[in-house]
Amino acid sequence: MTHGQFPYIRGRRLRTSSAMREMVAEHHLKPADFIAPVFVMEGDNSRVEIPSMPGYYRYSLDLLMDEIGELKEVGVRSVLVFAKVPDEKKDNRGTEALNPEGLMQRAVRTIKKQFPEMLVMTDVAMDPYSSYGHDGIVEDGEILNDESVEVLAKMAVSHAAAGADMVAPSDMMDGRIAAMRESLDEAGFKHTGLMAYSAKYASSYYGPFRDALDSAPGFGDKKTYQMDPANVREAVREAKLDEQEGADIVMVKPGLPYLDVIRAVRENVSVPVSVYNVSGEYAMLKAAAEKGWLNEEQAMMEALVGFKRAGADLIATYFAKAASELLNDY
Ligand code: PBG
Repeated sequence: MTHGQFPYIRGRRLRTSSAMREMVAEHHLKPADFIAPVFVMEGDNSRVEIPSMPGYYRYSLDLLMDEIGELKEVGVRSVLVFAKVPDEKKDNRGTEALNPEGLMQRAVRTIKKQFPEMLVMTDVAMDPYSSYGHDGIVEDGEILNDESVEVLAKMAVSHAAAGADMVAPSDMMDGRIAAMRESLDEAGFKHTGLMAYSAKYASSYYGPFRDALDSAPGFGDKKTYQMDPANVREAVREAKLDEQEGADIVMVKPGLPYLDVIRAVRENVSVPVSVYNVSGEYAMLKAAAEKGWLNEEQAMMEALVGFKRAGADLIATYFAKAASELLNDY
């Protein structure tokens, strides 16, 4: 085979130029792959930078519209809305979450009115509304499942009524997908989609997000409902169950420490798989870049294409705008 000239087969031939590399690239990113998380707060004409998420802001609804306009401009087609709830509106049953005039509901209506073609997804979970900062109703230090699911199903309907295209339950209670599908259908929202956070791990990478929404658990941790980082079979089980219960998209969260989980879930369900590149992953990269220890743009794109390689179809990421801008520049 070698006839003196060694080696005969050279992998480097396919890496000789940018055109060649692009031609043989196995995975591509595009702005429509991204879901941009957005944080909304009460007030007018204000934005607050989240200290642990440099360059990322919480917006009052009026300024959020400008931000969404910019996302649209660069080609991002979906947003995932999170609302910051004032302390005085929090209680153990997440009552404010069902208020038709609540911040989340107003935000959804306003976004859909101004940007009808933007896909609006909403976070369905009790923690931003809970006086305990937990994703369910608390009783004697325990997080109740079935009682919380009732509230969550109503929350899903309330978001759908406000105009959400998809609701995204991030609570990890058992049976919530079936309950939400049933409630949505009964209320006439047959086409409102469900993106299930199916494999959501009890992760330390949510820290900056909890700063953004002031939603850290008041006691204990979330390990009785969010998953153990040691497990992957359990993630597959959760994702399959959510698919059977009617989830339209299943999600793995966080992203970078869980690429194997994305792959395993991708191979075991037929619905699209999304990944959430969470706040701590954003913070980590930003911090290293600020110190000059990493090239921010390159590290960002490498992480994002890594999600696609692992098998993710969609990526919820705080880098949605920055990455789209770069992609448009090519
Ligand atoms: C709330 C929720 C969390 C995130 C999304 N939805 C935090 C948590 O479960 O404590 C985290 C997102 C991020 O860190 O970027 N249920």
